[in-house]
Amino acid sequence: MPNDPASLTARRNGPLQGRVRAPGDKSISHRALILGALAVGETRICGLLEGEDVLNTAEAVRALGARVESRRNGEWRVQGVGVGGFAEPAGALDFGNSGTGCRLMLGAVAGCPIAAAFDGDASLRKRPMRRVLEPLERIGAHTQTSSDGRLPLTLSGARDPIPIVFEPQVASAQLKSAVLLAGLAAPGETVVIETEATRDHTEKMLAHFGADVRIDPHGELGRRITLIGQPELAPRPIMVPADPSSAAFPLVAAAITPGSDVILEGVMLNPLRSGLIVTLAEMGASIERLGTRKEGGEEVADLRVRGGTLRGVEVPAARAPAMIDEYPVLAVAAAFAEGTTIMRGLKELRVKESDRLAGTAELLRANGVTVDVAGDDLVVKGRGRAMGGGLVATHMDHRIAMSALVMGIASVRPVKIDDTSFIATSFPGFVDLMRGLGADLS
Ligand code: S3P
Repeated sequence: MPNDPASLTARRNGPLQGRVRAPGDKSISHRALILGALAVGETRICGLLEGEDVLNTAEAVRALGARVESRRNGEWRVQGVGVGGFAEPAGALDFGNSGTGCRLMLGAVAGCPIAAAFDGDASLRKRPMRRVLEPLERIGAHTQTSSDGRLPLTLSGARDPIPIVFEPQVASAQLKSAVLLAGLAAPGETVVIETEATRDHTEKMLAHFGADVRIDPHGELGRRITLIGQPELAPRPIMVPADPSSAAFPLVAAAITPGSDVILEGVMLNPLRSGLIVTLAEMGASIERLGTRKEGGEEVADLRVRGGTLRGVEVPAARAPAMIDEYPVLAVAAAFAEGTTIMRGLKELRVKESDRLAGTAELLRANGVTVDVAGDDLVVKGRGRAMGGGLVATHMDHRIAMSALVMGIASVRPVKIDDTSFIATSFPGFVDLMRGLGADLS
């Protein structure tokens, strides 16, 4: 499809150079809107990610009765309705491509005595919702879904929500957050016991808004989170730091392109989000942290990354929750490394915006890289360079699309993607930002 306006080609164009800031963190942006909507009074948000996923969440809380407006200076203001105060929406809530928006809002609505229809695009309609609906039903919500528990579905929230103790069977911050958001409306203690800690933005933001949340260690890698229900959430200003999952693309592009020297400003360094930086450092990437500071309750730093030689490594399964969204772009880095990289325990990648385990393998194979999916592991044979020349099917998945373009920036021959449109779900300015660093995307 040579003239398809949705396609885009990345070509090698020398070193990347410059100083850029990735957009606001997607996870924190969703939560800022949702907790702002559940607080009493006005929450001001700076640096909100204005990507389609987050805009759909803004639309959903609006449909449920919160007032949400964006100011000309980029600030967002949310007038909340209080815990349990959502009003029944007139139509279905449409979460587009976003599992996070949908699952978190299922939790937030489950604690309110209203019925709401939830829907999404073809990708979201394929993703499992049963994992979230089960604990929400224990809390007292009722759901009507097709037999396989996928969207579209209708959820009727609990009239008298019951506090539960929940031990998720998968490491998922979305699942944990859904239960905590529903637990806000229940009297007494809602407890989530994680055997592997996942991103803790919901817990941190609940505490920021004045809820009583306790976090205790659980086993070697886990946490026990206890929330006291029925708080009055008090609006607090929120500064959204730059998203490490978006910064990952220019970071890897610079690390694999010889001669590059790029500074990524204000990247969030929450340890439960930093697995990619740890892994790239183990691979020998030159990443310096400059000006470490606090922003919006999170440690952030400017990251200076220089192009160089990488070596293959083994990435343990225990690291997966801290870099779950970064495997496609790590796999691209692995292709440019010398030696084999083994990424273990990637089962959850199969149920992301696309089957990312298969999609990542396809992306690499289409560009002449030797790759193997062995059970839940991904094995990439790095040769220090990649041929490229492939046409990559993005399967409605923004991270596959951006990872393929990163590959084309450094490979011998150009790499083309079939569809750029989903990039706007998480990183609307991606193409311009990369061009600003010197990338050839056309
Ligand atoms: C997210 C959690 C992760 C991640 C997603 C954002 C969140 O999903 O993949 O992009 O904001 O809670 P899981 O928690 O289901 O792994």
